[in-house]
Amino acid sequence: MTRLEELLADAPGRIAAASSIAELDALGSELVGRNSPVADARRGLGKIEDGAERGATGKSINEVATQINVLLDARRSHVEGAQEALRLSDDAVDVTLPGRRPRRGTHHLIQSTMNEIVDIFVGLGYTVATGPEAETEYYNFTALNIPRTHPSRLESDTLYLDYGDKKDEVLLRTHTSPMQARYMEKHDPPTFVVVPGRVFRSDAVDATHSPVFTQLEGLAVDTNITLGDLKGTLALFARQFFGTDTKVKFIPHYFPFTEPSAEMHAYTNGRWIELLGCGMVNPAVFEHVGYDPSLYTGFAFGMGMERMAMVRHGITDLRALLDADRRVLEQYR
Ligand code: PHE
Repeated sequence: MTRLEELLADAPGRIAAASSIAELDALGSELVGRNSPVADARRGLGKIEDGAERGATGKSINEVATQINVLLDARRSHVEGAQEALRLSDDAVDVTLPGRRPRRGTHHLIQSTMNEIVDIFVGLGYTVATGPEAETEYYNFTALNIPRTHPSRLESDTLYLDYGDKKDEVLLRTHTSPMQARYMEKHDPPTFVVVPGRVFRSDAVDATHSPVFTQLEGLAVDTNITLGDLKGTLALFARQFFGTDTKVKFIPHYFPFTEPSAEMHAYTNGRWIELLGCGMVNPAVFEHVGYDPSLYTGFAFGMGMERMAMVRHGITDLRALLDADRRVLEQYR
């Protein structure tokens, strides 16, 4: 019995000192396992002849074993709790830390300018169409009433492709106007369409020129379209794009495919600046595409997206838009 009492006296301190589940398992088998003093005492019970004494001894063995098991269980859950707390603090995430954001791409200024201007005309009810960059001489010049002898047809101005038919050569379109003819051939009036797209000219790069740039063509044809409609539409565009107090004026000009023709200038940033070419569709163009010039009138215009962006943002060198320098482009996100 004294062995058991000693055991009970020692056990609480040893159990309290155990700091891992493995240690507690070892201690459990040492104290109450198959080869423990408790088990020995139980095995010795059979030798006690006196029934009352045997009963009392058995009872106190069980009490010792129970107390030790209670202590072991309590310590076990304490150790488990501490381990869990440690795991949680190791895995802790500071949700207040700022995240690492992926770089967001954006449209290039030329693209976003085009989207914005297309939106203005879509808001007025215009349809959007696109056409080929490799164009035939017929659509780029002939259908637009540009005579065989016109200097813009020369290789000094136009980039010809070594492709197609000698009688109707293929070239890189020098403006988006060929889509006027293509669109009217396929669609009956009323016609309200804008055509964004890249155009090409035999120019070297400098502050105001590039061999490739971006235009937006516009065409409105119906019965009773007047020069007043042209002026009202383009003035409204200028005020939406450059600001409501923008003044515009129309200066006579010449294009073979419009008659009369004009340049629209706008007063922004303290000066007058030429913005675009426009005019009333020349009846000769209607005849090429099968619209009856005695029934229909219309206006057309063409503007450069690079120019619109430069005027609006006060950019003085076109190369700033061509160089793909992110430090420049990111200013216009
Ligand atoms: N195509 C002309 C140019 O590139 C612009 C224009 C379009 C003028 C439509 C009048 C009508 O300069």
